[in-house]
Amino acid sequence: MTYLEDLFSLAGRTAVVTGGSSGIGRGIATALARAGAAVVLVARGQKALDDTAAQITAAGGTVAVVPGDLSSRAGVREVAEAAVEPFGEPDVVVSSAGINLRPPLGETDEATWDATMAVNLEAPFWLGQRFGPGMAERGYGRLIHVSSQQAHRAFVTSGVYGVSKGGLESLARSQAEAWSPRGVTANTLVPGFVLTPLNRRLQDDPDRVRALADRTLVGRNSVPDDFAGAAVFLASAASGYVTGQSIHVDGGFSVH
Ligand SMILES: NC(=O)c1ccc[n+]([C@@H]2O[C@H](COP(=O)([O-])OP(=O)(O)OC[C@H]3O[C@@H](n4cnc5c(N)ncnc54)[C@H](OP(=O)(O)O)[C@@H]3O)[C@@H](O)[C@H]2O)c1
Repeated sequence: MTYLEDLFSLAGRTAVVTGGSSGIGRGIATALARAGAAVVLVARGQKALDDTAAQITAAGGTVAVVPGDLSSRAGVREVAEAAVEPFGEPDVVVSSAGINLRPPLGETDEATWDATMAVNLEAPFWLGQRFGPGMAERGYGRLIHVSSQQAHRAFVTSGVYGVSKGGLESLARSQAEAWSPRGVTANTLVPGFVLTPLNRRLQDDPDRVRALADRTLVGRNSVPDDFAGAAVFLASAASGYVTGQSIHVDGGFSVH
C-alpha cells in the first residue's frame, strides 16, 4: 500500500448513502465508490437510483440500489435491513436524503413538521442506532451527515428545515460521544448553496443565484462534486481523530 492508499483508500469498505440518487448524495456516493468502497444507494425513486448506479458502474465502481422511503420508522427499518443484503454491514453511513418544504415558520402545519423531522433528523438517528453499535464492535465506523447553513443562521425561510439541521449537527456530536472511543467517528458536512434539484425553485431567479455566489469567497455556487474530497476524507482512515465536527464545504459562504 502506498502512503496515500493507507490514508484515503476505501477498498474493502462498504458504504450506505441515503439520497444517493441525486445531488450531493449522488456526488458523495460516486466519490466513495471511486475511492474503492462498495456503495449502496438509498432513495425512493427507482429510475434515478438506476441511472446513478449505471454511472458509478461505468466509472468502475461497485454499487447496489435499495429503493425505500425514510419518512417513517418502519420505512427506515426496512431500508436498513435491505441495505445490508448486497455487501454486508456498512463501515460508512452517509445521510444525505433531505427535504426542504419552505413554508415560513408561522405557516408551518403538523404535516410539514412531521415530514421534515422524519426525513432530515429521525432517519439519520435511527440509522445510527441500527449501525453505530456494530461499527463500534468491529472497531471502525464513519457516520457522515449533510446539514445546512440554516443550522447556523436563519435565511431563505429556514423554518423547521433549519431546526432539523441544527438537530442533525447535535446528533453527530452525541453519536461521537457514544461511539468514538471505539473507532466510530460522526461528523457533519455543511454545504453552502449547491445547484441541485432540491433548490430548483430558487435557481429560477438568476439575480438571487448571482447574489448567493457573491456571498462565497470562491466566487461561485457549489456543485455536488465539491463534496468528493471531504467525503472521502471523512469516510477514510485519515479522519480517525476528527469527530463531532461540522465541516463547512461552502466556498467560504459561512465566513463572509
Ligand atoms: N442543495 C443545497 O443547496 C443544499 C444546501 C444545504 C444542505 N443541503 C442538504 O443536502 C442534502 C442533499 O440535498 P440535495 O440538494 O442533494 O437534494 P436532492 O438532489 O433533491 O436529493 C435529495 C435526495 O434525497 C432523497 N430523498 C428525499 N426524500 C426521501 C425519503 N423520504 N426517503 C428516501 N430518500 C429520500 C431523494 O430521492 P427520492 O426523491 O427519489 O426519494 C434524493 O436522492 C439534503 O439533506 C439537503 O438538506 C442541500
